[in-house]
Amino acid sequence: MGFITHIPGTNPVVIPERDPRSLGLGVLGLHEGRTLLLALDRVSSVHAVAGCDVSAEKVEACRSEKPDLFYTPDYREMLAMEDVRIVAIYTPDPMHADHVVAAFEAGKDVICTKPLVNSLRDARRVLEAGRRTGRRLMVGQSTRFFEPFVRQRRAYERGDLGEVELLEAHYIHRMDWYYEKSPWAATGTDWVFLGLSHPIDLLCWYLGPIARVHAFGARSQLGGRYQVAGPDVYIVNAMAESGRIGRVMGHYGCRELPSARNGIELVLYGTTSTSQAQYHDMRYRYTAPDGTEITEDHLYAGRHYYFNSEVHGMHYGEFANYAEAFARAILDGNPNSPDLEEGIRTFCVMDAVGRSAREGRVVEVEDLTRG
Ligand SMILES: NC(=O)c1ccc[n+]([C@@H]2O[C@H](COP(=O)([O-])OP(=O)(O)OC[C@H]3O[C@@H](n4cnc5c(N)ncnc54)[C@H](O)[C@@H]3O)[C@@H](O)[C@H]2O)c1
Repeated sequence: MGFITHIPGTNPVVIPERDPRSLGLGVLGLHEGRTLLLALDRVSSVHAVAGCDVSAEKVEACRSEKPDLFYTPDYREMLAMEDVRIVAIYTPDPMHADHVVAAFEAGKDVICTKPLVNSLRDARRVLEAGRRTGRRLMVGQSTRFFEPFVRQRRAYERGDLGEVELLEAHYIHRMDWYYEKSPWAATGTDWVFLGLSHPIDLLCWYLGPIARVHAFGARSQLGGRYQVAGPDVYIVNAMAESGRIGRVMGHYGCRELPSARNGIELVLYGTTSTSQAQYHDMRYRYTAPDGTEITEDHLYAGRHYYFNSEVHGMHYGEFANYAEAFARAILDGNPNSPDLEEGIRTFCVMDAVGRSAREGRVVEVEDLTRG
């Protein structure tokens, strides 16, 4: 299982000096991708050089904030740029495979936002192209790179939690605003990929290879109104090959959550401590060895780094963190996580969850990377 090899400091006052070896990056898809373009000022090993979107409006919005970059509506033109070493992809889910394969074939390393792909056919194509070209890929699993989840992982790697005996993760978010903004989200994908990619990635990160899943799916009233393609409410029980167990939930039509809960949470029940990481309140809570509950609340220290001092919920800090981790791994010749093979294994779990919910039975996960 992968470890975070490098997470930069999160002091909002310190603007890091650029590493002379810093890698140039081009962003494809400038809605969520705009966040990365702006966020790269926070880190030293990678810098923005170009942005690409077929929408002139999106390009102009980025140009007004980052006038010195090269902009184009033509992806091929960005792929032809020599100073673009890494391509970061933020197009709608069903387009990721085409865009990743084109970047690999142009000799670029790739950051692809979650979900890496949303069909078996695309998973096979991307895996084949990555192995054939030898290019590297980082899946932009933003939650792993958000401060409380980084702290929780460090504690786990230090052994503070002991053995994880049970894991509980969810991503819950009312999505009418998203269907209005991006209609493809209702009809061009499934929430098992678009939403559950967050908690299922966390499940795989801690429990290791997942052997089997049992899922139920339902459609919320809101999902019905927007005629979503599949269920938008999911509950999943999972067992790892190691025998450890976990539960994942998603709900994309709910009302607002009470403030005690957050949209994304990960609870680890370890043999020596229980811990909870939250997005977006930026709280990490855990029990000390004597049972005292400790809360580390990074919101006021980290709100500029993570949220650009905007309303909380944005992803500046997480995107900066994973881009920096990827660039550093490339520059130092180290592995990165989650890489292509790990991303495909996580896809295989999501795919098994979808089948289990449709067929109403326990489904064994078929790991394409072992084929
Ligand atoms: N936490 C996270 O990491 C996070 C958060 C939100 C969205 N996402 C992911 O980011 C991706 C984009 O989501 P979004 O909300 O920005 O979607 P969006 O629909 O708002 O934006 C997609 C952009 O891609 C552009 N585009 C489409 N085809 C293109 C092409 N061929 N060439 C150039 N540009 C093209 C569109 O014009 C649009 O601006 C999705 O896969 C989504 O799942 C990740």
